[in-house]
Formats: sequence, structure tokens, C-alpha cells
Amino acid sequence: MASSLKVTQPQHNLEIRQPAPSDGPAVTRLIKESPPLDVNSAYCNLLQCSHFATTSASAFSGDTLVGFVSGYRVPGRGNTLFIWQVAVSERARGLGLARAMLNDIVERAENREVSWLETSITANNSASWAMFQGFARSRSAVARRSVMFERDEHFAGSHETEYLLRIGPLRRSVV
Ligand SMILES: CC(C)(COP(=O)(O)OP(=O)(O)OC[C@H]1O[C@@H](n2cnc3c(N)ncnc32)[C@H](O)[C@@H]1OP(=O)(O)O)[C@@H](O)C(=O)NCCC(=O)NCCS
Repeated sequence: MASSLKVTQPQHNLEIRQPAPSDGPAVTRLIKESPPLDVNSAYCNLLQCSHFATTSASAFSGDTLVGFVSGYRVPGRGNTLFIWQVAVSERARGLGLARAMLNDIVERAENREVSWLETSITANNSASWAMFQGFARSRSAVARRSVMFERDEHFAGSHETEYLLRIGPLRRSVV
């Protein structure tokens, strides 16, 4: 599958592209180093880097993976991109990389039908709230919050409630 190669932030030499299975080990490492993200199996990360590559993104500084976004289009609701995880390594935070990866995915020709973005966030992940609300603002989109998976009912008390954030409508950039 052809990758969508795009250079952003040239002063930091960052490059964003569609993931490839060879990114798998570095993705597994980056997710492990990015609390509070849940750690996935290496196999799960490989599926994200292959079957879900069109709706995911890898970011590199030189040969080093410094960012990863996994996502998929919700089955039966193809206009909705669900973002599963976003990770940016500590050394690359604050540069707009998370937002650039989201924009890269949304602007791909393969995702032209996407007009809504959804994600789930726990109440105390302030970086994630700030990042997704900033993304919504930057696209003049509305962000609505509701409960997605509740702590006791869905996690049997073992995980904080995940709130659904639904952002849209997303208009494609005019080129
Ligand atoms: C959350 C995370 C992905 C942000 O990555 P980033 O590349 O530094 O984010 P960006 O530079 O694109 O920032 C986008 C916006 O979020 C804000 N933001 C980012 N991190 C923030 C933080 N820790 N606290 C407050 N605001 C923050 C930025 O100020 C910016 O705001 P703006 O829209 O007003 O300009 C990164 O901190 C990370 O990997 N954290 C650990 C894993 C995690 O929590 N992932 C998110 C859950 S899926």
C-alpha cells in the first residue's frame, strides 16, 4: 500500500506517513513509554500498522518513531473516524505533532467521506482533552461529550469511565 508521505515542521525534521508493519516494534515501545495509554499486544499494534494503516499515522524524526495515531472508521458509520490512541514521545511534545497527525489522516483521499471524529478520554487526561478540543477549535467544529464506557457497568470497576468526544462536522481543507 502506498504511504501518504508528508513533511511537516521542517525545522524539526518531522515526517508523517501512513504506518507500515515494520513500524510495529517501535510503536509497541512508544505506547509503553506513553502513560496513561493502555499497553496493547505487539500483534494488535501490527494490525493497526497494516489493516488500519489508512486511518492511522506514524511520525518520524530521522529514523526514530516519535508519534503514532491509531484509528478506524466505525463499522456501519463510514463517515466517522474513531481515534483509538495518540502517542507523542516526550522529546517531540508541544510542537503540534499530535494535531498534525490527526489532520494528515483526515485529509487523505481515502478518508474523503470522513466528516466526524470520535475518541474516548478519561476525565483526568487533561492533555488529551486539550489536544482534541484544540483540534476541534482549529477546524471550527463542535465537540460534544457523553459517556461511552462506564467504570462499573462496562469495566467492572477496573478502569475509569471513558467519555466519548464527538467532533464535527469536519470540512476538508480547501487546496
Ligand atoms: C496528548 C499528547 C498526544 C499531545 O501531543 P502533542 O504533540 O504534544 O500535542 P500538540 O502539540 O499537537 O498540542 C495540541 C494542543 O493540545 C495542547 N496540549 C498538549 N499537551 C498538553 C498538556 N500536557 N496540557 C495541556 N495542554 C496540552 C496544546 O497546548 C495544544 O493546544 P492549542 O490547540 O491551544 O494550541 C501527548 O502529550 C502524549 O502522547 N501524551 C501521553 C499519551 C496520551 O495521553 N495520549 C492521548 C490519549 S489518546
